[in-house]
Amino acid sequence: MKEKIDSLRQGFEQELAKAASSEAVEKLRVAYLGRKGSVTELLKGLKDVGAQEKKELGQHINQLKKQVEERLSQQVEAIRAAEEQREIDSAQQYDVTLPVGGALGSYHPITVVQRQLEEIFASMGFIVEDYNEIVTDYQCFEAVNIPKDHPARDMQDTYYLENGQLLKTHTSAAQNFILQKYGAPVRAIFPGRCFRNEATDASHETTFFQMEGIMVDKNISISNLIYFMKTMLSEVFERDVKVRLRPGFFPFVEPGFELDINCLICGGEGCSTCHHSGWVELCPCGMIHPNVLKMGGVDPEEYTGFAFGLGLTRLVMMKYGVKDIRDLNSGNLKALSQFRQA
Ligand code: DAH
Repeated sequence: MKEKIDSLRQGFEQELAKAASSEAVEKLRVAYLGRKGSVTELLKGLKDVGAQEKKELGQHINQLKKQVEERLSQQVEAIRAAEEQREIDSAQQYDVTLPVGGALGSYHPITVVQRQLEEIFASMGFIVEDYNEIVTDYQCFEAVNIPKDHPARDMQDTYYLENGQLLKTHTSAAQNFILQKYGAPVRAIFPGRCFRNEATDASHETTFFQMEGIMVDKNISISNLIYFMKTMLSEVFERDVKVRLRPGFFPFVEPGFELDINCLICGGEGCSTCHHSGWVELCPCGMIHPNVLKMGGVDPEEYTGFAFGLGLTRLVMMKYGVKDIRDLNSGNLKALSQFRQA
């Protein structure tokens, strides 16, 4: 039996040397260690030998088994490394310094406008913050003064995870985080992707971008709000824009406003874009509700502030005259390549 073990070992080594693919190695593993494999058969044969011999032979066979296992995994590893090397070698055939043929990539129009806004606000002393897309119910609703049964929730249905978290419906979901993180005074903007469970059409999408901003300090008033909004919009549209405030209800601000701009298509004369009113609704805003400040750890007796939730996607559509919101998310290069910057 001993000779049998030795010759099996030799045979195995010879066959292993020839096994050049992971399939071949696997075949070998089955042939030696499988249920009917040679090593397994040897172990089974032990039942016919005497007790003393059994112990000794058993050890030899187990040694062989261990050796076969180790050599097989070494071979698998060696084959994998060789494959990797082959891949590296073939990749080196590409010259990454060659000029690119065909179309160049470009930034998405939303990215372009977002960066422009970030620059404008940074120049006015605002921090640019980032925030999660998956948030808790508390962050998205309760911390901005929308308790569990508040009807304002009906307008912001979204996608829920099994653990109760949700995809944020508005960038206001970060207000609490920013207030907690920086305390007062603070000036911050926080752009982000938002989600709503909506039927899509030319002006509604399940996924869109907003840019939220807050400014909290002593004696902040509505005049500060108007000044910053007007400055920002004039820079974005590269001309002086007229703004007006109308009352609007949002649970996290008091008073709350809809900020309209003078229609840039007709100059305020009235056209189809502005529904012949001369004004276009662009940026809801208001004075931060004392409850929101309190939940953010800021004393509303000492500080006041304004907040705004600019519809970034809407702004991009206005700026570039995009008529269908779905063009922006379609990944359709015919639509997107028109925004390529020189
Ligand atoms: N979060 C609101 C929405 O998505 C927009 C909004 C309104 C944000 C007023 C604000 C605000 O910061 O002051 O509908």
